Amino acid sequence: MRIEQATPDVVKEAAKAIKKGEMVVLPTETVYGLACNALDAAAVNKVFEAKGRPSENPLIVHIADFQSLRSVAASWPDLAESLAERFWPGPLTMVLKKKASVPDETTAGLDTVAVRVPDHPVALAVIREAGVPIAAPSANVFTRLSPTRAEDVDPKIADMAAMVLDGGRCRVGLESTVIDMTAEHPRILRPGGVTRAQVQAVVGRPLGHLPPPSLRKSPGTYARHYAPHAVLTVVDKIENGQPGLTFKEPKAEGQIKMPDDPAAYAARLYHALRELDESGHDRIFVERPPSHPDWEAVHDRLKKASAN
Ligand code: TXA
Ligand code: MG
Repeated sequence: MRIEQATPDVVKEAAKAIKKGEMVVLPTETVYGLACNALDAAAVNKVFEAKGRPSENPLIVHIADFQSLRSVAASWPDLAESLAERFWPGPLTMVLKKKASVPDETTAGLDTVAVRVPDHPVALAVIREAGVPIAAPSANVFTRLSPTRAEDVDPKIADMAAMVLDGGRCRVGLESTVIDMTAEHPRILRPGGVTRAQVQAVVGRPLGHLPPPSLRKSPGTYARHYAPHAVLTVVDKIENGQPGLTFKEPKAEGQIKMPDDPAAYAARLYHALRELDESGHDRIFVERPPSHPDWEAVHDRLKKASAN
């Protein structure tokens, strides 16, 4: 596994690898991504294979600025422009009508494409240097925890990539918010780094609702996901010796004190679960975070991590 500091020369090398159809692990502000040229179907297939990801789950395409939206989206509503102005670069992904030049492999055959501008200097530098839109799912094996540090990238994935660029710890720590802009009423498909309230404040009218899971055309809504190896249970309060995540002072080894603030909690979550996993616990208990809506993304990930 080749972890590199992202010097200008290394960024050039990474961009070259991407243009050649290879994969590179990149830092973003949310999680590390397994990146490739979004317009190269063969490269995209390698990404699906490396992750063991079902081919019906489309990838997010990363661009360097709003102007580049033209290279992947056929059209977008005015509201997309307002959202981009407020949240890009940042953890908001918009689903828009796709351009024909984006291969079916990238979008899993959908006529839409998910796009965002990541808020990380290394990711932006590689996208600009490569001069192509970059598809990047989280750099984890399908259903497992997403990496939020270079050293957390699964070695199997890292070995298939040309290199892992080290960009330090991810500031947000869980994935972007995905919003479907093609519905009559834009709706959040996946809660994430931008809260529903923040989106709502820009949209200014009620967001749409998701259909029940059985009717969803939106892929990637698997019950078990983002999961540690250990069995994870959400509890009201951790009992004395139980390993897991608590809001109180830890009383035993294997208990990790988590922040009270939802953004700080999110930034810590995946790595904390990984630490417990790596110290060999086969059960992890997580104290239920507050029900306030700003915790929506954290609740979503805990629910998926605890599903059987
Ligand atoms: O923060 C993030 O979004 C990270 C970093 C690397 O940018 N990426 C990420 O990618 O989380 P991934 O592949 O793990 O999740 C992509 C999500 C999936 O839930 C997928 O179903 C959804 O985006 N998605 C992608 N394209 C879509 C489309 N055309 N329509 C609906 N959902 C889409
Ligand atoms: Mg993922």
